[in-house]
Amino acid sequence: MSLVVLAGSGIAIASTSVFAWRWWSNYQKYSYLRNFPSPKGHWLSGNLSDLIAALKAGKLPQLFINWSKELGDIFVIWNFNKPNLVIGNAKLIQKILLKGQKDGDFIRGGNFYSAYANVFGVHLGNQIGEEWQWRRKAWTPALASSKFLAKFDIIHQASLTLIEKLEQKAIKNEAVEIDPLFLKYTMSIICYFMLGVPLIPEQDRIKPILETEKIYSSLAVLEKQVLVQGTTGFNWLKYLPTKKNQIYREAQNYLNNFLHPRIDLAFKLARNQKLDQNELSQITQTLKDSMMVQMAKAPRYTADNLINDVRAGLFAGHDTTSHTLSFAMGELALNPQVIQKAREIIEPVIKEGLSIESLKKLVYVEAIFKETMRLHPVASQLSIVAKRDTSMVEKFVPAGTVISLNLILAGLDSDMYGQPEEFRPERWLDAEENGGIEPTLFGFSLGAHYCLGVPLAILEATVILSLLIYHFDWELVNGRSSLEQLGQNITVFPQDKMPIRLKARKFATV
Ligand code: HEM
Repeated sequence: MSLVVLAGSGIAIASTSVFAWRWWSNYQKYSYLRNFPSPKGHWLSGNLSDLIAALKAGKLPQLFINWSKELGDIFVIWNFNKPNLVIGNAKLIQKILLKGQKDGDFIRGGNFYSAYANVFGVHLGNQIGEEWQWRRKAWTPALASSKFLAKFDIIHQASLTLIEKLEQKAIKNEAVEIDPLFLKYTMSIICYFMLGVPLIPEQDRIKPILETEKIYSSLAVLEKQVLVQGTTGFNWLKYLPTKKNQIYREAQNYLNNFLHPRIDLAFKLARNQKLDQNELSQITQTLKDSMMVQMAKAPRYTADNLINDVRAGLFAGHDTTSHTLSFAMGELALNPQVIQKAREIIEPVIKEGLSIESLKKLVYVEAIFKETMRLHPVASQLSIVAKRDTSMVEKFVPAGTVISLNLILAGLDSDMYGQPEEFRPERWLDAEENGGIEPTLFGFSLGAHYCLGVPLAILEATVILSLLIYHFDWELVNGRSSLEQLGQNITVFPQDKMPIRLKARKFATV
């Protein structure tokens, strides 16, 4: 008996010593980061309790804005003894993303990316090095701008469907939450391109058919899990026997059941395998042209790893664009001079008929979208890791330091944007309108991981925003607070779903 007790206490002492040693070496390694300003926190857990409280209240982005007001645009937050260097300085972020990533001084990584891989599986969006390169090579031609322009009619059609729905709401003078409608809009488009699902899902020959709301609410559950695991650094949280985790497992199962038959068919098509009668009856040209079939041609894809990329592609391709569109609607409602200027440009174009050619005349609408991304970057933070010892603002930063590039703070940096608090799309068309500085857009990232979906996002946004501005006037039911009360899964969104009240402009017809 006493031997057991002795052995037990031996193990306890050994593990305490290992823990204490690890704690101490971590403390020493990162002690240099104590030279940076830091928000006041608990002596042991650092800023973790503030982060968790903000996470629960859906106020994480606001917490960082408040910290930067107090501490400046470079500061450190602590999760116990693990530091996170937060950078909101636009020029420094630009240098890190472009030169730093190219020279190999910084790579993306940190808790967030490990949580992303843990929840969504290994895919393009969370890999680095060779594992990232071959995926990026497979994705790039599938997302070429020409692919989307060739299907301009699909995007136009999806946009008109949304306009018709909103006209019904306007007739009834009903307030409408615009964010879920944008989610539906972008989901129908990305499912068309990614999976070959027709715009009217009931016409799809592959079962189960697309239920857009179920897909985006399931993806939102996964995204939230990434945020929780990424913020706390605890990937084991998903195994706790809680109701939330059961919902998480159900969401994973739902997405897998929806995607698996499609992925299997994509492989057979891409690899010219024999199809049975039933499979042959499911084939359409849209399916053959889909991104997943093109990607399945890359030899290193298997059904198991392609499903991860497709699931993440659905997330990357709908959530980001739709929330940005919601914020654009919010900003436009508060800036009537921008709507007025946009209308002068849009009206003749729409009267002649919207087409690929006429898109060139709508650069002001594109600038509205970019300006929205500056003030409301939905991918609000990019997490990277210093590969080598380096320095920032003349302070030493050791290799291994996790760094958060905060794009909300970057968008407010007056060294990059003249009068940053103003919503001024003109700055993207003429540097003089930006105080003589050439502005950089961070919302799609820069450098190696520059967003592959830019052509699709810009096209969707230009078409739907032009039509909305042409057809409606609108006001925000909750005023400016819709733009300020932010929720977050992976992406940031308006917590109240951006309710608006629309008024149809009398002369405008679809
Ligand atoms: C307004 C809309 C969008 C925003 C704000 C946005 C933002 C971003 C950002 C910030 C990144 C870099 C992420 C990182 O460094 O880890 C990224 C990457 C990516 N985006 Fe987008 N995105 C948008 C639309 C889209 C669309 C429509 C697609 C279409 C599928 C897409 C697909 C991707 C992919 C595949 C990557 C990964 C690139 C890589 O890891 O090399 N995005 N996006």
